[in-house]
Amino acid sequence: MLILGIESSCDDAGAAVLETTRPGVAIIRSNTVANQDDIHRAYGGIVPELASRNHVITILPVVRRALESAGVTLAQIDAIAVTRGPGLVGSLLVGLMCAKGIAQATGLPMAGVNHIEGHLLAPMLEHEIAMPYLALVVSGGHTALFAVEDFGRYRRLGATRDDAAGEAFDKVAKLMGLGYPGGKVIDDLAREGNRKQVKIPRARVKGAPRDFSFSGVKTAVATFLASEAGRATLPRDLAASFQEAVVEMLVTPTIAAARELGTSTIALTGGVAANSRLRARLAEAGADEGFRVVAPSLKYCTDNAAMIAMAGSWRLLRGERDALSIDAEANLSL
Ligand code: KG4
Ligand code: ZN
Repeated sequence: MLILGIESSCDDAGAAVLETTRPGVAIIRSNTVANQDDIHRAYGGIVPELASRNHVITILPVVRRALESAGVTLAQIDAIAVTRGPGLVGSLLVGLMCAKGIAQATGLPMAGVNHIEGHLLAPMLEHEIAMPYLALVVSGGHTALFAVEDFGRYRRLGATRDDAAGEAFDKVAKLMGLGYPGGKVIDDLAREGNRKQVKIPRARVKGAPRDFSFSGVKTAVATFLASEAGRATLPRDLAASFQEAVVEMLVTPTIAAARELGTSTIALTGGVAANSRLRARLAEAGADEGFRVVAPSLKYCTDNAAMIAMAGSWRLLRGERDALSIDAEANLSL
């Protein structure tokens, strides 16, 4: 089965062609994305109105490019998978309407996909993974631990009580005057920094050891920056110390949850999974306890349409489809 995936939940417009014969096993024939970082950078964050307006311009060329680089025409596609939520509603609508338009014109079956399910199954794009596995989803909008028990059966074990980890990276980068998006800049800067230079308190949620909280770390950085010591500290040392705190606050509950779940595999996914220190520390901590840690290539960590095609594939392979009347849902739950 050849599936055309379409994703536009936030500021990236993506399209992909996935070839699959059974759930969880696929060949990525193409994966294209139109990134809007240059548009939103001037505002220090995503401007929803600009995101959706730019999706309107880029979505069809992106779909066309995905088909071309897969070496197929629309006539060879068997089904469409599209993100229907959660996300920015204006952004979601562009991808969803594009998918509906293609489905209406061609008669192809269409499946609406939950964006988080996409992130959860993204590690399967490149690796064979036995279920159940533990997935740590860390992005600009989400930070949560899920037990992936089967296709369509996902149990949330913990989540952030306030900011998402990516949001903390972006906000701290803004405080430090490093621009937007901040995750990669901090990651690069921290490579040369001293992780122990600045004491950043690690937050725990009382009575909920699998939950996360990142707003305190952000406040700690703001307070430190305003102090005399803050003004005298090298940005690379502050970046490394902040990053180390966030990484530790992610890794500790993850290892504990994996132990509790009794799984052998931990999957790391979402935009923050691109973080080099998080990848290294989770791999180390996992190896110490005998877990296999799987993280997708960077292009499948951040928002992409290949993971949406993967998440839609198990239903489409069963012959299921959604009505063309489905709507975009900004707060769609899993
Ligand atoms: O999954 P994603 O592309 O979009 C959603 O939020 O759904 O994730 C984007 C987030 C941003 O907050 C960005 O700063 C963060 O991922 N990010 C990183 C790195 N690369 C991207 N955070 C830390 N280290 C990185 N190398
Ligand atoms: Zn995402």
